[in-house]
Amino acid sequence: MEITTDVRWGDCKEELKSLPNDCVDLVITSPPYADQRKNTYGGIHPEEYVEWFLPVSEQLFRVLKPTGTFVLNIKEKVVNGERSTYVMELVLEMRKQGWLWTEEFIWHKKNCYPGKWPNRFRDAWERILQFNKSKKFHMYQDEVMVPMGDWANTRLRNLSGTDKIRDNSRVGSGFGKNISNWIDRNKAYPTNVLHLATECNNKNHSAAFPEGLPEWFIKLFTRENDMVLDPFMGSGTTLVVAKRMRRNSIGIDMVREYCEMVRTSLTPSELYLFEEREEYENA
Ligand SMILES: C[S@@+](CC[C@H](N)C(=O)[O-])C[C@H]1O[C@@H](n2cnc3c(N)ncnc32)[C@H](O)[C@@H]1O
Repeated sequence: MEITTDVRWGDCKEELKSLPNDCVDLVITSPPYADQRKNTYGGIHPEEYVEWFLPVSEQLFRVLKPTGTFVLNIKEKVVNGERSTYVMELVLEMRKQGWLWTEEFIWHKKNCYPGKWPNRFRDAWERILQFNKSKKFHMYQDEVMVPMGDWANTRLRNLSGTDKIRDNSRVGSGFGKNISNWIDRNKAYPTNVLHLATECNNKNHSAAFPEGLPEWFIKLFTRENDMVLDPFMGSGTTLVVAKRMRRNSIGIDMVREYCEMVRTSLTPSELYLFEEREEYENA
């Protein structure tokens, strides 16, 4: 089946309205953070962030299939020596829209900025929030299993008696374990912490995803020929990775140059750059 990659130039709040209901399997995106990148593509004041984002998340709720997942990469800015609270407020407001806040992953940035601040350490992680429309969403956990590594070689070779039988927790929680089940397996399920380096240096965008980030979530939440959407596409990392993984994708960005850049990084015959409109000329 032919894979389509659809780049749309415009404000996603408006562009999303042209998509039908329940057509997307995975939304993965990193919106502009409050105020932080004013010089490159505009910023939103932290106090206005929730109000700005909610019409977008309302559209995302409409276009996402009931079995789909919304993955939101976001991190609150520091204002006057304090972390802003807009991410927490956004989660609460999105729940009122009907979203389930299913999980929070940590993206550990292995190569975070060097430096020293008087009241905090280097910021080495970002939030990746997972939202769903229903509790029964598609999740292909076996696709992201990781090698067992040292744990298999050491811990499993020295199993204690209680490890070998099913041993309900001594604190009475009823949480059983049977570590011996893991003998002879060479893969385990991962944690909710992703260790990935940022990759901005080799892309013409100041806040690009490392390719491993959309790749991991695309593997986890979609199958071949499914539809992936990135409404704040930037340099189009999500689309490039989705195409490579044989997923259909739609990307939206309000900066024309980014749309053109993504177009040239994809095979022309599989790309549809939607009609350009004058009002975005200077965006
Ligand atoms: C953090 S960047 C995304 C980077 C992207 N994940 C990548 O890998 O390159 C956010 C992007 O959102 C775009 N943007 C900001 N407001 C927008 C809006 N209302 N509609 C569509 N795009 C918008 C910006 O132009 C910017 O490219």
